[in-house]
Amino acid sequence: MEHTDSGGKLWFLGAGPGAADLLTVRAARALAAADIVVWGKELMTDALVEEHVRADAERVSWPPAEMADIHAAYDRAAREGLVVARLLWGEPSVYGSVRDEVRAARDRGLDYEIVPGITSLFAAAAALEIELTVAPQSSRPLILSQGRGDPVPVRELARHGGTIALFMIGERAEELQRGLIAGGYEPSARCGIAHRVTWPDEVVLTCRLDELATTVAARGLDRHTLVIVGPAMEDDGPGVSAPS
Ligand SMILES: C[S@@+](CC[C@H](N)C(=O)[O-])C[C@H]1O[C@@H](n2cnc3c(N)ncnc32)[C@H](O)[C@@H]1O
Repeated sequence: MEHTDSGGKLWFLGAGPGAADLLTVRAARALAAADIVVWGKELMTDALVEEHVRADAERVSWPPAEMADIHAAYDRAAREGLVVARLLWGEPSVYGSVRDEVRAARDRGLDYEIVPGITSLFAAAAALEIELTVAPQSSRPLILSQGRGDPVPVRELARHGGTIALFMIGERAEELQRGLIAGGYEPSARCGIAHRVTWPDEVVLTCRLDELATTVAARGLDRHTLVIVGPAMEDDGPGVSAPS
């Protein structure tokens, strides 16, 4: 937390995976007190904003807003002593842009605070009814990685034999599937897929690892999707079944 004299304040709030009631109490209070709320229209549910934001608060949603508009809101906060809440999806420290955000606040001499949120990984684990650090393999690592990068290093990561959570799989499910199998996972390994988890249209299912790419393609799940594979998925969750 940074303290300055401008009177304005910038809150960076973990928005959670989507559902309006998966916000922390601290984030909900900060959101309710904000003069300006900045949020990603495609990344957060309307319900989250409708439920927690004051009716008279100014809303800056992107799109259509761009980074310059968001920074203009920060400038006003510094100038006019306003409270701005910037919603960052899931948990801000997990593939979030929180470091850039903090820099933007510091550059403007704005008081700021980061409030943690529920990452989509934890929401996916709950929906899949799995334990991410399941015994007896609890000495194996829990690895967070992503489908971006060139090449995606899943083959090396798979060699650790841990549970891997893959964010931002995009259109690379086939490459990821190949890398994971080449790194040592069985083609028949159980894979968890969570798409828009906690949203009204969420899709949560399991499939064999060698069917990951076809499952993702058949259902159009390339965006907003998290994939989990490894020991945590070997312990059958009772409530989630393979796609028919
Ligand atoms: C830029 S990262 C942000 C992650 C976020 N900070 C978090 O803690 O969940 C975006 C990726 O997070 C995952 N994600 C975010 N929300 C999700 C949701 N509701 N359901 C499934 N995956 C989600 C997807 O893998 C998506 O491509």
